[in-house]
Amino acid sequence: MNINVGIIGFGTVGTGTVKILLQNGPLIKERTGLNINIKRVADLDITRDRGVSLPSEVLTTRAEDILMDPEIDIVVELIGGIHPAKEFIMEALERGKHVVTANKALLATEGEDIFRKAKQRGLLIGFEASVAGGIPIIKVLREALVANNILSVYGIINGTSNYILTKMSEDSMDFHEALQRAQEKGYAEADPTFDIEGIDSAHKLTLLASLAFGIPLAYNSIYTEGISHLKAEDITFAEELGYKIKLLAIAKKVDREVELRVHPTMIPQGYLLSKVDGVLNAVYVVGDAVGETLYYGRGAGALPTGSAVVADIVDIASVIAGRCMPPRSHIPETTDLRIKPHEEVECMYYFRFSAIDKPGVLSKISGILGAHEISIASVIQKGRRVGKAVPLVLLTHRAREADVQKALREINQLDVVEGETVLIRVESEE
Ligand code: HSE
Repeated sequence: MNINVGIIGFGTVGTGTVKILLQNGPLIKERTGLNINIKRVADLDITRDRGVSLPSEVLTTRAEDILMDPEIDIVVELIGGIHPAKEFIMEALERGKHVVTANKALLATEGEDIFRKAKQRGLLIGFEASVAGGIPIIKVLREALVANNILSVYGIINGTSNYILTKMSEDSMDFHEALQRAQEKGYAEADPTFDIEGIDSAHKLTLLASLAFGIPLAYNSIYTEGISHLKAEDITFAEELGYKIKLLAIAKKVDREVELRVHPTMIPQGYLLSKVDGVLNAVYVVGDAVGETLYYGRGAGALPTGSAVVADIVDIASVIAGRCMPPRSHIPETTDLRIKPHEEVECMYYFRFSAIDKPGVLSKISGILGAHEISIASVIQKGRRVGKAVPLVLLTHRAREADVQKALREINQLDVVEGETVLIRVESEE
């Protein structure tokens, strides 16, 4: 059977998708009996050499040539951003076409309209490429683990920030130097703020959490903190204490509540996630039947992301051909689960105070922590400078975020504490 595809956006992922379809099209046909035909590719620039050869009549500068073409079954949106990507997708659905997209920012923030429209029209939205590039994590949550109550999802799902943290750890670079390296290598998003401030991870977590827990898209409820404020010395102290710092996207269900957060997180060096370095991504999922599982691979790049796009095209083509049941494609609009407010979250904490080196200082700090029910697990003073500020590093047992914030406000007002206190959340067995 012949399935016609129109691709809007001939950038990195668009080129990877075309390359895979041209090279592996015969293999896909052999495996599925489906001939995936690239009917049109639209981009504002159709003259640049991308290292793939398409007949000139396939290329167009007008997205309308794809959206209006009654022979196109699947529209692949790969331009990114909110506008006009949303309008193109809505128009494609209006015209009865299935959609494949890698656009996590769009789905996380405007996805409700898109999924509702697709549901009304009985059409499918494939978005495997929007989270963790080549790792088939959407399929895992939607299909492979369908027999499980998902208990938790922990992801390293932004390659740029993972690359930066790896450079800060392995090459002792400061944050800005490591970011510059990431930009030179072309890893960062057009606006690196999305990568380094946790926003890209929060977009992706929105989609993962919805699939894992059957909740509506909850981007605005995710506590999001990035890595731009991290200092090389905290990475060193964390490593001395036996931890690595990773930007984790965390979704956990406890009873009828879901925690959703993205922040730099200290995890024990023995955890597999702590060994995920450079631009690589990994997602750790715990299900009540399957137990712990881990998925690892390339979270970006033309071919890894193109691999996910093509997988979605083939899945939808199989449904069109009547070969299989449509995968669960729609995002729920309601839930009876409560998204836990961040102040109620409990975890362990790392604090670095800049405290004056003199007798009685530690007891003042620990007194305030104790008054707020925060129990100290260990304390290290780094260096000795009598009467001057030194780093004082503390690890706590499990504590409540609201108590921690109140205690830190009081501690920061002490005249023996200088500058800003650093707080990093710790995820580990107690
Ligand atoms: N900029 C993203 C990252 C890749 O650094 O992981 C695409 O999602």
